[in-house]
Amino acid sequence: MLDEGEIALRPPTFVVQVGHDEYEVQSLCPHREGWLEHGSVNQHRRTITCPLHFSVFSLETGAQLSGPPCGNLSCRKIT
Ligand code: FES
Repeated sequence: MLDEGEIALRPPTFVVQVGHDEYEVQSLCPHREGWLEHGSVNQHRRTITCPLHFSVFSLETGAQLSGPPCGNLSCRKIT
């Protein structure tokens, strides 16, 4: 719990697990900073969809696959 006047900072990355693989993914969408940890992961395609405007990004490469143009996601496979 925060005290009055404190600011909670969002960690810059979070981990997505797909099968035995883990990906470190930036927390904020490059479009308008949607919280990607609240996005949906497609385990088969290895993609994550932003909950705000539904941009889809590859977890393997970070490439934006669809949605409003905003560039790629910073992510990397860690295991
Ligand atoms: S904030 Fe993620 S698609 Fe707009």
